[in-house]
Amino acid sequence: PEKAVAAMARQAPANLEELNSLIRRSEPLVPGATQAVTGEGPEGAAIAFVGEQPGDREDREGRPFVGPAGQLLTAALAEAGIDRNGVYLTNAVKHFKFVQRGKRRIHQSPTAGEIKHYRWWLLTELGFVRPRLVVALGATAALALTGRAVPVLRERGPMAFDGWDGFVTVHPSHLLRLPEEAERRKAQADFVADLRRAAALAR
Ligand code: URA
Repeated sequence: PEKAVAAMARQAPANLEELNSLIRRSEPLVPGATQAVTGEGPEGAAIAFVGEQPGDREDREGRPFVGPAGQLLTAALAEAGIDRNGVYLTNAVKHFKFVQRGKRRIHQSPTAGEIKHYRWWLLTELGFVRPRLVVALGATAALALTGRAVPVLRERGPMAFDGWDGFVTVHPSHLLRLPEEAERRKAQADFVADLRRAAALAR
């Protein structure tokens, strides 16, 4: 990975478009993904949201946050008064990692080494987008942005990231996994409250 990062840095993309074309031409670190999924949204957006990695649907469509977790995020953003099209959305890892079970492709969490491999891209990407606030959705993004394991439920809220004003909250897929209706509703309300707070910080 260190060699790969040095090789990428030598390619020195001049802008986001060049960076994204480098990312799209790269081989997935773990084989299997259909395509790399790059970030989406305007350069200069006030907030950049960083997720974990594309899921099954994102891998097929080539866009971030279009599957079930993405739809939940889009709805929560709307509830918090944030226009999805006005923010920047990306992932710490740009390729879907999964195991095949029959017809289903089951998501696998990226390892710390994989997160580190993709980190140069993420930081370079943020350097082009220049948001006022970077929001880490879940532990993978928080690890990518801080270099340490962050217990997100305990430490949710504003946090200094390497070079950025940051904010940590849960990943929307966490909300999908909660089995109990009441617990899920409470967690969704907390998530929307975090998004509102982040939006206020980015103003
Ligand atoms: N989960 C993520 O972290 N990112 C996506 O793009 C979709 C689901």
